[in-house]
Amino acid sequence: LYFTNGSLKADNGTLCEAINRNEPKRRHRVAAVVEKRVAELWPELEKDLQSYFATHATKLELRSLAVVEGGEACKTESAARVQMEAFHQLGLDRQSVVLAIGGGALLDMVGYAAGTTHRGIRLVRMPTTVLGQSDSGIGVKNGINAFGKKNFLGTFAPPFAVINDIDFIRTLPDRDKVSGMAEAVKVALIKDRAFFDWLSSHADALARFEPAAMATLIQRCAELHTHHIATNGDPFELGSARPLDFGHWAAHKLESMSGFEMRHGEAVAIGLALDSIYSARVKLLSEADADQVIDLLGRIGFELWSELLERREPGGKRQVLAGLDEFREHLGGELTITLLTAIGRGVEVNAVSTAEIEASIAGLARRAKGVSAA
Ligand SMILES: NC(=O)c1ccc[n+]([C@@H]2O[C@H](COP(=O)([O-])OP(=O)(O)OC[C@H]3O[C@@H](n4cnc5c(N)ncnc54)[C@H](O)[C@@H]3O)[C@@H](O)[C@H]2O)c1
Ligand SMILES: [Zn+2]
Repeated sequence: LYFTNGSLKADNGTLCEAINRNEPKRRHRVAAVVEKRVAELWPELEKDLQSYFATHATKLELRSLAVVEGGEACKTESAARVQMEAFHQLGLDRQSVVLAIGGGALLDMVGYAAGTTHRGIRLVRMPTTVLGQSDSGIGVKNGINAFGKKNFLGTFAPPFAVINDIDFIRTLPDRDKVSGMAEAVKVALIKDRAFFDWLSSHADALARFEPAAMATLIQRCAELHTHHIATNGDPFELGSARPLDFGHWAAHKLESMSGFEMRHGEAVAIGLALDSIYSARVKLLSEADADQVIDLLGRIGFELWSELLERREPGGKRQVLAGLDEFREHLGGELTITLLTAIGRGVEVNAVSTAEIEASIAGLARRAKGVSAA
């Protein structure tokens, strides 16, 4: 996991070292796949990539440079197949490298194609979003959507390298910049009080997207995620505990209820607020700590209320509550939800009270809207 900037300028050795580090004498073949939106916003990128490989020609060979559509719509079987077919045509072998440059969605799709071709070609990810650099791009998963289900097809395939080039964040729309920061608050809440305090004292700088603050947020968040995956004993998620999914049971449900209009991070922020209030209601966490969570999320720029939380089934049941069952199914066993016992300390529980969730939603409405909810 590398942190850099100007990664495609010829004098930046990061990419070359990342690809060549195991066989420095070999010349590695690389198939680059770049997200179209990124190529448009960074008009020099294709030329820079070509000259990068020309400069490092003794070590690297650019076999192809494809520019393809990204975003959630690219996570399809047909888009992945186009990549697989290209890898086939190019004659890539297991020591070849696929270099993917783009948002989390493009990385997931290309990662799936690379991860299944020859049972896994080396993948170097260069994420270009805050979410990608701090969370999705550094994990061991990839996938595409199929049969109407998100990430239904995919593999666990650790990337060969991840290169976080902070420059890319500059062109990201503000909405995606804010949204990407939710995972940093999440991982701070479950693992790192000092990081939470840092986020709190830099909330205004983060809300203004100050580059130095954004870079620190991304780096710390990426390190905490990587450390967790490497050391928690369950990198391939065989167990039913998923501590990194704090706040995610409600988030996944809200995202799908919104028809994926809501960004992942926007939904996660609401989920974090809700599960922090819940943690306080069941006396695991202090009220003051729950207030600090809400305060931080609000200051970074998150909207912590959505009318979707009020939506009910014909029978009267609040729709978001179905997220609990879906989360349990997704874990494939016992319901395991992470709550907080302190800022910086998560705890797993296997049962939750629907009545307390209802009360927590009302509590969130009061705090987020400043009104009292029914
Ligand atoms: N594999 C995993 O472990 C994992 C974990 C979490 C999420 N994900 C996946 O990640 C995806 C979300 O990733 P995301 O938030 O990066 O969204 P995204 O890839 O959809 O990108 C968001 C938007 O930003 C654009 N974009 C990308 N880089 C840009 C840049 N530098 N400047 C301007 N615009 C840019 C994209 O075209 C898109 O419109 C989802 O598909 C989700 O399922 C995967
Ligand atoms: Zn998430």
